[in-house]
Amino acid sequence: MLRSRGPLFFSRFVWARLSSYFGTWTYLRRLRPNGNLDDLISFVIERPAGEAQMVFAMQRSSEIRELLSVLERTPPQTVVEIGTASGGTLLLLTRVATPEALLVSIDLPGGRFGGGYSGWRRPLYKAFARAHQRIVLLRGDSHSETIAGRLAQLLGDRSIDFLLIDGDHRFEGVRADFLRFSRFVRPGGLIAFHDIVEDPDQDGMGVARFWETLRNALPSVEFIDDPHQAGYGIGLLTVPREPGVMETALQRL
Ligand SMILES: C[S@@+](CC[C@H](N)C(=O)[O-])C[C@H]1O[C@@H](n2cnc3c(N)ncnc32)[C@H](O)[C@@H]1O
Repeated sequence: MLRSRGPLFFSRFVWARLSSYFGTWTYLRRLRPNGNLDDLISFVIERPAGEAQMVFAMQRSSEIRELLSVLERTPPQTVVEIGTASGGTLLLLTRVATPEALLVSIDLPGGRFGGGYSGWRRPLYKAFARAHQRIVLLRGDSHSETIAGRLAQLLGDRSIDFLLIDGDHRFEGVRADFLRFSRFVRPGGLIAFHDIVEDPDQDGMGVARFWETLRNALPSVEFIDDPHQAGYGIGLLTVPREPGVMETALQRL
């Protein structure tokens, strides 16, 4: 960049990045110990710091609010998020999880599927933890045996209380994540899918189609801001407590 765009552009770029990075830290420090959740939702969705804001969420406010309200009623102790990107949903999840929660993020170290995040964001994401929470950032492909193995090791004899699937949005991708990770979720635990609403302008997105196969097979609710919207929408499943129901649903997929 220094060579192609010149020193002035480069120094402005570096300055914008640094001030955004430290600005986010300052904001997080101000929020502690228990900031208002609605303020935080506005912060990550409306991006008051503009394009330079580092931490943001690709969500609709009312949809994520409804999901977080469900979680607030029974705060999860073990949370796994597939797809963290700019950290917005991970930050929000720390506010509704228990003060001792384990939160695991799985995402790519950049590159494939147009996302992921760079290593220098790690300290920032880890600083989202409040009270005695622990945040573990697994950087790799959610479809790989290595990542599933590392998660199993981390969980030990814990089960997941809340799983957010917002990673690979292709039909086969979301299906693979569901098949692989739903087995770690406890009976009565929750699994959320993002982007359950079809978006005709987005090629290759398969979450809406996959959600169609699940929504009637298992107890579910949907949070959709506007019935005419394209894309977005959150689908939430409860893992049945009755033995065999989940297994039967999985076999049909
Ligand atoms: C839509 S973004 C997540 C947005 C975030 N949850 C939010 O609401 O702000 C999707 C993320 O999933 C990640 N992803 C896609 N395929 C993946 C895979 N196979 N394994 C791990 N992460 C993946 C991408 O790198 C990207 O960061």
